Amino acid sequence: MPGVISWGSKRKLTIALFRILAASLIPLCILVGRYLVAQPLRKMEELDTSYLVPGYVESYSLWVMPKGKTAEILRKEIKTLSAAYPPAPDFEPHVTLLPDIKIPGQDVIAKAKELASALQPYYVSFQNISRGSVYFQCVYLLCVKNEGTIHAGDVARKVYSMDTPPYMPHLSLLYSDIPAESRDLAAGQAHKRLYGEGSNYDTLLAETGFTVDSIAVWYTPIEDKSTASWRKIAVVPIV
Ligand SMILES: *[C@@H]1O[C@H](CO)[C@@H](O)[C@H](O)[C@H]1NC(C)=O
Repeated sequence: MPGVISWGSKRKLTIALFRILAASLIPLCILVGRYLVAQPLRKMEELDTSYLVPGYVESYSLWVMPKGKTAEILRKEIKTLSAAYPPAPDFEPHVTLLPDIKIPGQDVIAKAKELASALQPYYVSFQNISRGSVYFQCVYLLCVKNEGTIHAGDVARKVYSMDTPPYMPHLSLLYSDIPAESRDLAAGQAHKRLYGEGSNYDTLLAETGFTVDSIAVWYTPIEDKSTASWRKIAVVPIV
């Protein structure tokens, strides 16, 4: 009869539909399954590297950073100095543990975890304001080479198999190429604000240092003197 589908063709249609369903569901299930299994791994291993700036050599630093009031005071001092000596950049207060690490970010983080697990929390102790002769060591807070600080520097150099110059722990306050007399002046001004008698609670460095209980991994391409491209890509706790 016209308009009525026979039993035979109904069955064929059903089978065909099942085939189509099966053909599309099985690969879909495989894809979803793979995605679910891979997801946790991906989160751990893959790093979003959109911060990388083309034209700069990929380079990282390990930093230890003060927190709370100490960070606030130092942040303010860096801002004050950068404003007084343009075009000096403004940056986060930190003591570099290891500079110039030229391996992919993912590997830097993996090694930072290894390093952190080999360390105990330690104390970075400030010594005095000092000044150097290169851009990235213009005016800084020199830190004491105490046991914890030197040990961390040694272990970092071992973990990253790097033979960098001897560790001179310091917290930079000004990045600049200003002449020596200006450096002396800037150091004197910083000293007055952070330690001076005429200083007030807003600028006085009350603490003698800070406790390190984490390591920050920063993208710090050395060509970028403006520090505009610098990014914190991970913080690894020391436990
Ligand atoms: C600390 O540094 C400041 C500025 O550079 C200097 O005037 C002062 O004499 C130094 N103090 C000590 C104890 O070395």
